[in-house]
Amino acid sequence: MYLFTGKILRNRQLTSDIRHLRISAPADFCQQSAPGQFIMLSCNDGLFDPLLKRPFGILNRGENWFEVVIKEVGKGSLQLGEMKEGAIVSGHGPLGNGYPEINSDLNKDDLTPLILVAGGMGIASIASCLLFSLKSSIKAGSRVLLYGAANLDELLLLDEMKESAPDIRIETITDDGSSGRQGWVTELLETELQQYPEALVFACGPEPMLINVQQVLRKVSARGYLSLENRMACGFGVCLGCVQDVTGIDDDGTVESAKVCTQGPVFPADKVVF
Ligand SMILES: Cc1cc2nc3c(=O)[nH]c(=O)nc-3n(C[C@H](O)[C@H](O)[C@H](O)COP(=O)(O)OP(=O)(O)OC[C@H]3O[C@@H](n4cnc5c(N)ncnc54)[C@H](O)[C@@H]3O)c2cc1C
Ligand code: FES
Repeated sequence: MYLFTGKILRNRQLTSDIRHLRISAPADFCQQSAPGQFIMLSCNDGLFDPLLKRPFGILNRGENWFEVVIKEVGKGSLQLGEMKEGAIVSGHGPLGNGYPEINSDLNKDDLTPLILVAGGMGIASIASCLLFSLKSSIKAGSRVLLYGAANLDELLLLDEMKESAPDIRIETITDDGSSGRQGWVTELLETELQQYPEALVFACGPEPMLINVQQVLRKVSARGYLSLENRMACGFGVCLGCVQDVTGIDDDGTVESAKVCTQGPVFPADKVVF
């Protein structure tokens, strides 16, 4: 884990309350970051208000920069979202386990097909599977992105994802029908699993969506991973603020508390106890 200060290199407004930031960072941090990991961030204004950094998914990274997408929902995210280019932020990371690398041999013709499922701001985590500029086995295995949002305006980063992963099909669905069909993203997942019953599913989004994803997977005995976004205080395993019930790793069905920040945020879907 690296503790560093970075400069805001770019701050792009995506919607009235969502910002896309590019931030400078040490090369080692960038090199070690993987899809699905996150960073704790705060502005470095010396006021320590709010005291604690906030967690954000690492959307993308280059040689000495990384990107995040921030929805402004409270004090911490508002401060970060409003920062001007040249301003300084404090960060520590990369944190968490990230999505598993499942296709170890990229040259195989029979890569495990992946279905990516994003709801709302869950796209920040899921899009990292497609945007990371490395020749990732996750990117190579991805067949389709199922993306649900409140409305057309809230569908983010579509051009960036299409450019980075031109072979992937993107299906959208919205609460109001302004893009794609009106409905829940899990409806698309049910249809998709009929086409790829052997697929592995990676999903991130609000908890009600993840509960539905888990139910769909159980119904058809499909395998998947859920990326959880529990509230966090430290991000590195000391405060116990982020714990989540999971069934034991030993498969004996015992319910344990897992630290989402260090043992997650990505968990096998069948292990999470909502
Ligand atoms: C691993 C992880 C990755 C995340 N990635 C992103 C990301 O890429 N982009 C992004 O915009 N957000 C992301 N979040 C959520 C983000 O961390 C919170 O929105 C942020 O911490 C809120 O801080 P605040 O000071 O702005 O709001 P607060 O003043 O702390 O809270 C404002 C409101 O938001 C609610 N809230 C705060 N944190 C969460 C949470 N984790 N889940 C649900 N509701 C919450 C509070 O209950 C309150 O109603 C992620 C969270 C986690 C744990
Ligand atoms: S956020 Fe402190 S233990 Fe997970």
